[in-house]
Amino acid sequence: MTFRIAQISDTHLSGDKPFFVDNFERVGEALRADRPDLVLNSGDISLDGAASESDLAAARALHDGLGLPLRFLPGNHDLGDSQDSPARGEGTIDGERRARYLAHFGADWWSLDVPGWRLLGVNAQLLASDLPEAAEQEAAVAEAAATMGERRLALFLHKPLFDRSADETAITGRFVNPAPRRALLDALAAVAPALVACGHVHQYRETRADDGCRHVWATSTAFVIPDARQPRYGVKEVGYVEHRLAPDGAHESRFVRVPGVPTLSIADFPAAYGPVER
Ligand SMILES: [Fe+2]
Ligand SMILES: [Fe+2]
Repeated sequence: MTFRIAQISDTHLSGDKPFFVDNFERVGEALRADRPDLVLNSGDISLDGAASESDLAAARALHDGLGLPLRFLPGNHDLGDSQDSPARGEGTIDGERRARYLAHFGADWWSLDVPGWRLLGVNAQLLASDLPEAAEQEAAVAEAAATMGERRLALFLHKPLFDRSADETAITGRFVNPAPRRALLDALAAVAPALVACGHVHQYRETRADDGCRHVWATSTAFVIPDARQPRYGVKEVGYVEHRLAPDGAHESRFVRVPGVPTLSIADFPAAYGPVER
């Protein structure tokens, strides 16, 4: 049985500022018709949950309305960004913000076994934080990698691990930075993921690394960021991603455009945020 994941991302939902709720609901109608085995939101679930708990509650209620199996990973807008991120307009991850996230969405790192595969979700913002749970997460990643047997690994997190190469040295808010990237890869030890899937950049992109790993960036269901504020790496359109994981280890990922869902630009919603680099 092939396991089908609908990866949605960067839904940026809020009850007080419901600018992107229509897009979410239209994507949700498509998901209900498609009935994937799992809907996985890879972060920035809420518009500004780092500052406003009501955004977390509203986002959770909208997801529960889908009536589909759900998993979540936090984004910088849900619990603050990493300490090592240069621009932290949404604030910095701390124990209180993380606890609020956990109360609404459950564990911020987790693993799930499906035929032939282990899915491993990690909290990208926690990786580079000074919270004691960062070490707990690394230990959990190491344990998941050490006990997966013949399965293949699909790794999910909010931020891309890198642009083109794990050796990049740039410190940015867009990718996992070099030190936490190294810590994560070290925790995986000899296990090379077959698939790494993320969100955060609001663009769809699929690349193959030198080791054969497929890196898939899910775009946002909500909005894109204009070229004047963010380079173009891939496709700047809204939608979601379908991953198909076969028991024999074969896998494919594809960008799904949902008819009738407009690609909004954050430039047209000045009340959502000020200019923020993503
Ligand atoms: Fe986002
Ligand atoms: Fe993000």
